[in-house]
Amino acid sequence: MRILVINGSPHKGNTWRLTEKVKEQIQDLDNTVEFEEIHLSELYIPLCTGCSLCFRKGHIFCPHNQYIQPIMDKIERCDGVIFAVSCFQGAIPAIAKNLTDHLAFLLHRPRYFDKKALIISTTGGVSANSVTQSLANTLPGWGFNKCYQLPIVALSWNDYKPSEKHIKKAYKISKSFYIDLKSRKLHSPKIGVLIPFNLFQAMYEEYAPGTEYETQDGVFWKQYVGMRYASGIPLPIHKKVFGKLIYRIGKYLSPKMIVTYKK
Ligand SMILES: Cc1cc2nc3c(=O)[nH]c(=O)nc-3n(C[C@H](O)[C@H](O)[C@H](O)COP(=O)(O)O)c2cc1C
Repeated sequence: MRILVINGSPHKGNTWRLTEKVKEQIQDLDNTVEFEEIHLSELYIPLCTGCSLCFRKGHIFCPHNQYIQPIMDKIERCDGVIFAVSCFQGAIPAIAKNLTDHLAFLLHRPRYFDKKALIISTTGGVSANSVTQSLANTLPGWGFNKCYQLPIVALSWNDYKPSEKHIKKAYKISKSFYIDLKSRKLHSPKIGVLIPFNLFQAMYEEYAPGTEYETQDGVFWKQYVGMRYASGIPLPIHKKVFGKLIYRIGKYLSPKMIVTYKK
């Protein structure tokens, strides 16, 4: 089993210390687990410029693809991803936001359907749970199958030593994450995830090659036509019906709401 650990903090501080504890706990459960680490602060990824080439032409045209593609390849190759993100002003640090901005096109063209995530955050006093929750809201839109969250109030500036209580909480969550990864079980998506999946699918013909505002979405969704969610993921009947409804709404609205771009 391979777990990718993305340090989305600008240093190895409180959150990283807790993340190392989580790594140890998982290793104790199974010493065959392989970890790979990415420290975003070492990569110097330029800021997303908002050029929208990823949405329009495809992410390989991103001017920073040389930085982003290796990260995407590593996510593709692992079973689970641990995101370590400090709480800065109640939000993920800028360095992590820069990564998620570069990957925002994944909401239009999701792919990580068999991946699961564990999101770890520490805060001085408040909002660690808003931080983990904000990433847990984003990742399913990229396809992530399940997100576990470990928000911790550290009450410290870079001097946090996980207490017994925090170690127990971390163990409970790390163990659930590990067992879920090991089981390879794929969970039914939350209903909200079906909105972008079915909406973007419904819109794709308006952006197909040869149309006035062709985009990569117009190519991508062909493979999913008629599917309410990705294959292999359990989808009970009420979610299929909901997905179909969203699809129909999308089909009705999309010709009236063409998204343009400057050529
Ligand atoms: C730029 C910055 C912003 C912060 N914002 C908050 C905040 O909004 N709420 C809070 O309770 N603590 C805040 N803190 C304290 C950190 O969340 C806390 O020290 C956390 O454990 C830092 O994790 P790290 O050492 O992994 O970066 C902030 C610290 C910094 C440096």
